[in-house]
Amino acid sequence: MAAVKEQKRVFSGIQPSGVLHIGNYLGAIKQFVKLQYTHNAIFCVVDEHAITVPQKPQELRRNTLNTAMLYLASGIDPKEAIIFVQSQVPAHTELAWILNTITPLGELERMTQFKDKVQSQAKEAGVFAGLLNYPTLMAADILLYRTDAVPIGDDQKQHIELARSLAERFNNHFGNTFSMPEPLIEEDTARIMSLQDPTKKMSKSDDNTKSYIHLLDTPDDIRLKIKSAVTDSGKEIVYDRKKRPAISNLISIYRGYTKMTFKEIEDQYKEKTYADFKNDLAEVIIGELAPLQKRFQELSADKTGFEHILRDGARRAKSIADTTLQDVKQKMGFFI
Ligand code: TYM
Repeated sequence: MAAVKEQKRVFSGIQPSGVLHIGNYLGAIKQFVKLQYTHNAIFCVVDEHAITVPQKPQELRRNTLNTAMLYLASGIDPKEAIIFVQSQVPAHTELAWILNTITPLGELERMTQFKDKVQSQAKEAGVFAGLLNYPTLMAADILLYRTDAVPIGDDQKQHIELARSLAERFNNHFGNTFSMPEPLIEEDTARIMSLQDPTKKMSKSDDNTKSYIHLLDTPDDIRLKIKSAVTDSGKEIVYDRKKRPAISNLISIYRGYTKMTFKEIEDQYKEKTYADFKNDLAEVIIGELAPLQKRFQELSADKTGFEHILRDGARRAKSIADTTLQDVKQKMGFFI
């Protein structure tokens, strides 16, 4: 029997800035799939966020469609959740502009993701204002849908705090308009680290392709990447993020895919070697990704049906977003 949905709204987004990896899946998408049955759910491909660093048009278009296809292939059902592409709903950038006028500059400059990206971008293409204003656009995404909860990985927490403080500032100033969004974080898999350097998070923009497992990687690629994942000195398969960050990261991935507890995993591998554990981990990932990859191939073969889903999603998202934006503009004194 279908679960009865709460009226609570869930919203989240993923940037189409490269390949989606198992960190995106375990930190975010896995939660999306679960929440769609219990909440009023909206999931967005945030292409306007992706352009805060330079993108090649053809790649952006391809990555946008692939990201949306991966939502569906992972089990997000357009009958349960709205799926759409951000740039198809102009209210996002319009509300972002409005929110920019109440966002303290210092808060944007303090964002850790901004500081990290400034360092990498300064060396490459230069730093543009969009990168600084990125969190305000993210706040607009969330607040437009009067969102109650935002499923995310650990790295987005600070951005949700800004969205909350902007909601509060706006509500205090212009009257109650926005809900107060709560972050939803699955602690054990909220921060999957690079397979090559367990002090860095697994990232789409990492130049070293061995540092992440792409959701569409072949079984051979997955075996190779897990085999060459760095491990700590010592040989026990024990979860201890501080003392054994590399094996702990692999154990978190194992846990994310099998749902076994850390203790059950440790017990199962008590007498085993790192090599045994890595072999099994690779097979677990391959087995879990197989149905997703099959569904992705099927969706790729029916582009028309798929594009229809995105256009319908945008139409539904727009009707909710436009209502909030009208309310905001009316409260602020715009001529409407
Ligand atoms: P993005 O595209 O970098 O990542 C998408 C989601 O995946 C999570 N994630 C991870 N989780 C665990 N381990 C990792 N290594 C890992 N890497 C990424 C992210 O936390 C995120 O939940 N700013 C957002 C996109 C965004 C958004 C929004 C999110 C724009 N508007 C509104 C929620 C609500 C971002 O760059 O995510």
